[in-house]
Amino acid sequence: MIELIKGFKDILPEGISLWQRIETEAKTIFDDFGYREIRLPILEKAELFARSIGDTTDIVEKEMYSFEDGKRGLVTLRPEATASVVRSYIQQRMYAADPIQKLFTIGPMFRKERPQKGRYRQFYQIDAEVFGIASPYMDAQMIFMLMTLFSRLKVAGLSVLLNSLGCPACRPAFKEALLSMIEAKKEALCENCSRRLLKNPLRVLDCKVPTCREAVKEAPAITDYLCKGCDDHFSAVKEMLSGLGVGYEIDKGLVRGLDYYTRTIFEIQTSALGAQNAVAGGGRYDGLVELLGGPSQPAIGFAIGFDRLCDIMAQYEKPSQKPLQVFFITEGAEAGKQGANWVSRLNQAGVTAEMDYGERSVKSLMKRADKLDAAFVVIADGEGLEKGQVILRNMKTKEQSSISTTGITEQLQSIIVNQRS
Ligand code: HAM
Repeated sequence: MIELIKGFKDILPEGISLWQRIETEAKTIFDDFGYREIRLPILEKAELFARSIGDTTDIVEKEMYSFEDGKRGLVTLRPEATASVVRSYIQQRMYAADPIQKLFTIGPMFRKERPQKGRYRQFYQIDAEVFGIASPYMDAQMIFMLMTLFSRLKVAGLSVLLNSLGCPACRPAFKEALLSMIEAKKEALCENCSRRLLKNPLRVLDCKVPTCREAVKEAPAITDYLCKGCDDHFSAVKEMLSGLGVGYEIDKGLVRGLDYYTRTIFEIQTSALGAQNAVAGGGRYDGLVELLGGPSQPAIGFAIGFDRLCDIMAQYEKPSQKPLQVFFITEGAEAGKQGANWVSRLNQAGVTAEMDYGERSVKSLMKRADKLDAAFVVIADGEGLEKGQVILRNMKTKEQSSISTTGITEQLQSIIVNQRS
């Protein structure tokens, strides 16, 4: 047997109702908050991700699925959606029609991470991005929208972690302070962190290696280095979140694993998943549109880990399926042909109906109808059909009656509707 690749998974029909429910709820919220859907390719030029996510991040250094594609050069299975949404905003000149664009996209992402519970190599994100709005109110509104979605989905035990990464004006001072503090503990750093220390000292704050964690324990807080503009921005975000009743914690160690962020960054963590506790993350990236060749436009976004959200909800949500309304048991060739016709007509009218397609006894088919939890069974045999009659059995009350085959699908529809009301 050829098995699937480690870190990849099948989402089976039994589990799909949860995915669909989350997607429906997310789309309703996006609609209410004025976001429009965008669908983008899964494959992009590798350079797009190297330039935006940053070539000294874990994602770009070691987690991308990239391959040479002839004249097109190095291409990559997208590890996240933001870079592609920005590319599209620029390439499709969306900013020319209206610099303010509120977009969302849902789909698979690929990262060659070490697979474990909650961490997959193909995973799905529900991603939202807003362009053209620099106001801190947008930051708070976005987090509020995200928490509204989680609350509609009844996801409890979440915390909102918040930090600010400052801007190109104030971040260098923080980087310098951080560097001079870490320099003294350089020996304790892992190989990765030592290598990229000078180029990207912030990455050390994000490293999970225990010796690195220990080394940055006394690290300065970036929020102490914010310039007036960034400080005011951060205060306004916090104030509005409080006003909207969204609780949060300031996490001075939060830097996020992508280099494009400026100012507000946030992560939603859950207590229900063990080590992979981030169920969503995002932040402002005011310089990225320009960095990728577009106009200078501010932006902010987030992505929810769809798989992780499902893993949490599967702990308390029962999968649901449209119940089977009618099961047909037919005896003989003529009845089989009639049954197939009626099932097709009922399905067309939105009624779930199934039938037997083989030579099985009425007894074993009744068992199957029970297993499928059918509300009604119709038994059609050659003799009955000659008289234009079939037997209808209500599986709950066990009542049986004869009904005419004339207009049978309409009769069944009205019986089912009456039973529901
Ligand atoms: P991220 O933090 O890398 O941010 O990913 C967002 C979420 O995707 C994570 O919080 C997590 O729930 C989920 N996730 C990430 N990697 C995996 C994985 N290997 N397996 C399962 N789930 C995973 C971004 O991707 C940014 N693009 C978010 C953003 C949008 N920032 C601004 N706009």
